[in-house]
Amino acid sequence: MSRLLDIDRVRELFDLEGSYLAASGGSYQDDPNPAWHALRSEAAIHPGTVHELSGLSTPASFHGLPEPDRQHFSAFTFAACDAVYRDPETFASSPDGADIMGGEAAITNSMLSMGGVQHRRYRSLVQTSFTPAKAEWWIRNWIEETVDLLIDSFASDGRAELNVDFCAAIPVLTITGSFGFPVEQALDVRQALHTPLELIEMLMPIVAARREQPQDDLISMLVEAEITDEAGATQRLSDPEIYSFALLLLAAGSGTTWKQMGIILNILLSRPELLDAVCNDRSLIKPVIDEAVRWLPTDPMFSRWVMKDVELFGTQIPAGSVLHLCLGAANRDPERWERPDEFDITRPPKPTLAFGGGPHICLGMHVARAELTVGLNALLDRLPNLRLDPDQPASRFVGFYERGSTALPVRFG
Ligand code: HEM
Repeated sequence: MSRLLDIDRVRELFDLEGSYLAASGGSYQDDPNPAWHALRSEAAIHPGTVHELSGLSTPASFHGLPEPDRQHFSAFTFAACDAVYRDPETFASSPDGADIMGGEAAITNSMLSMGGVQHRRYRSLVQTSFTPAKAEWWIRNWIEETVDLLIDSFASDGRAELNVDFCAAIPVLTITGSFGFPVEQALDVRQALHTPLELIEMLMPIVAARREQPQDDLISMLVEAEITDEAGATQRLSDPEIYSFALLLLAAGSGTTWKQMGIILNILLSRPELLDAVCNDRSLIKPVIDEAVRWLPTDPMFSRWVMKDVELFGTQIPAGSVLHLCLGAANRDPERWERPDEFDITRPPKPTLAFGGGPHICLGMHVARAELTVGLNALLDRLPNLRLDPDQPASRFVGFYERGSTALPVRFG
């Protein structure tokens, strides 16, 4: 990557306000946790959707929620959400059931909505590129360069807006880099995110080139991957299957890591003593990330389809219902964490549900952690005396089903 990124184009493509408004509950600026505490203390499971139960009057369609004609339930305790994740046969991730067998994955049929054997097969194909051991591969090939390139674009200014100019661009540049897109094309990919056919046209020549001559990147790994069917025969992924993976990774990994990084920087910048401590002792970055994804996970709700009549923590849920898991509430369950509303990096480590659980647990969580760690370290290394800009409006947490920060204007030097 030799060129500087066109930062004005980055700003245009990652319009913060627009992004939150388009993405469910955009203008929400309250803290949902008091409502979630009240709901959780009444019952583990409630009939209704999370936003209705939390007092939002916006229709489900505004939030992009599925299946308006089905019955909806929501789970608010850690134990209930965890139990649901551990039983994918009863609580499937697509309305078609837990085990869709056979058939070629259509471009829209991503791994996220597959179940059972088919999901295991597809996931195991890519899993090896997403293990903790592979984090270094991601860092060395794409993350480090991306982060440095972005900081280069504002390091001499003494001020920056980190949410868009830094946090938003890192995950997109990382994933597009791993697909073999040069950095100047990465922003075109971002632009094409909502028009999959355009994106596929951009991927076609890369997939064809890697079929000819594989390289050390993710798209080559997909091209070379072999899947074994029930009869034990192996075959390579088809082009549409590769496009489907690529679209899933871009969709699942971009907004999430952007907004989670904005949340973490908001937390650190509004606690100068903590920022100072982390700056002096970088081993604190890990507990900061762990505590931040517990305290304010960017995607606080995922849904499952109920495949058979079931009694769950005292509530009867009929087959065919949709069950929403309020991971944000589960992560602040006082049964599991003392003083759950306090941001405290000295807590004993304990798994949270910020990255989900069960067979669909976030595939990219180690990549996300690597992006967050490298990004935070580089900011602290390269921008001395980093602080919120006192002349700009304070940053706030916004969004309901996609939580993040408003602009993060900083000064340094
Ligand atoms: C801080 C950032 C991130 C958060 C909080 C996050 C959160 C999650 C959660 C909660 C799930 C489970 C969804 C469910 O239960 O239905 C999930 C799944 C997934 N995530 Fe992430 N994610 C993040 C970053 C990433 C990145 C960087 C990538 C890719 C490089 C990624 C790829 C995926 C994929 C492919 C799945 C679906 C896995 C499957 O169906 O087996 N995520 N993520």
